[in-house]
Amino acid sequence: MKVITLTNEKGGVGKTTLSLHIAAGLALLGKRVLLLDSDPQGHCANQLKVKEFGGLYRLLVQDEEWKNVLRLPDRDRWGGAGASATACDLYVLPSNIETRHSADDL
Ligand SMILES: Nc1ncnc2c1ncn2[C@@H]1O[C@H](COP(=O)(O)OP(=O)(O)O)[C@@H](O)[C@H]1O
Ligand SMILES: [Mg+2]
Repeated sequence: MKVITLTNEKGGVGKTTLSLHIAAGLALLGKRVLLLDSDPQGHCANQLKVKEFGGLYRLLVQDEEWKNVLRLPDRDRWGGAGASATACDLYVLPSNIETRHSADDL
């Protein structure tokens, strides 16, 4: 497994846009991709039209199982509709405002 991390303190520099494009591009090339959003703004989920959901918080803080926190966006949200048969699905682990919470908030 390879991990690609896009991070920058500054907002509005293209982190989310580039992450989505890299993830979609790799899925189209037939790679199995998980797009993990760690930003509490949750824009990856918004862009992929995945219902708002604090998956990362539930996974890390509430010990939720992986199978319960992954989401499978519609392919037409990322260019996968009509792609070749070798393209893979693109999974997303969404974030939301809950990501800001700490275990102490429980
Ligand atoms: N390569 C680019 N060229 C022009 N506009 C871009 C580019 N990448 C991102 N944007 C635009 O810049 C804005 C901020 O991008 P975004 O990916 O949300 O940044 P971040 O995740 O770092 O806050 C958005 O409106 C996005 O459409
Ligand atoms: Mg962003």
